[in-house]
Amino acid sequence: MPSPTEILGIDIGGSGIKGAPVRLADGSLALERHRIATPQPSSPQAVAAVVAQLVRHFDWHGPVGCTFPAIIKGGVAHSAANVDKAWIGTDAAALFAETTGCPVAVLNDADAAGVAEATHGAARGRQGTVLLLTFGTGIGSALLLDGKLVPNTELGHLELDGREAEAYASDRVREIEDLSWKNWGKRVSRYLRHLEFLFSPDLFVFGGGVSKKWDKFAPYLEVQTEIKPAVLRNEAGMVGAAMAAATLGCAVPGGTEHAG
Ligand code: BGC
Repeated sequence: MPSPTEILGIDIGGSGIKGAPVRLADGSLALERHRIATPQPSSPQAVAAVVAQLVRHFDWHGPVGCTFPAIIKGGVAHSAANVDKAWIGTDAAALFAETTGCPVAVLNDADAAGVAEATHGAARGRQGTVLLLTFGTGIGSALLLDGKLVPNTELGHLELDGREAEAYASDRVREIEDLSWKNWGKRVSRYLRHLEFLFSPDLFVFGGGVSKKWDKFAPYLEVQTEIKPAVLRNEAGMVGAAMAAATLGCAVPGGTEHAG
């Protein structure tokens, strides 16, 4: 079978689940993205039903790549920080393959964004250690070395001054505590400086929905390392998910095979 030139990329987040067919050659979207609100509670069955709805929306019959905001190994979720706890131990790739009838690959949401930014975005062509961080409901991380991903780093859960980094510096915390851009920027800087000390990165890429407001907080970010806002922004998850389905191997309907 010839390899596909387009793969349906689906980004599963805490508030919305969005999808679009992605052109693998350049990471562009082949059709306008479609978004459906994340069901509450976000149980595996309810989320799988929305994934199937997106597949039907695009009348899709080929491979599908999905992001998920948790540790994902071989398609299986091993954590559930900001989603329904029933996900822990669920083979998300097999479940989505069953409900959609398509081959499906699943990977961590920040890892997907990292792969997309390293190939088509802010970290394109960069050698050395790149750390992409997504600031949203939680903090996601992707660690890349010479463009290759080290998956499932979960640096949002790093302990900083006695609490988890994402409980201190996520965008949700900025909203809940009504922090000014300056005060939030100080917290993010504290976190980035700690990561700088631990990883000596060559580049930070700042992702997540809040990266759209880069100009408001960038002046308050104090780090020695070069830092750039993500380029693909809201599309990074879908693009990275599609790329993963092309390279990682997929779970297939009726089986739970994983290549790679
Ligand atoms: C989760 C990560 C995820 C990040 C961003 C964290 O709470 O543990 O797996 O990448 O949120 O969604």
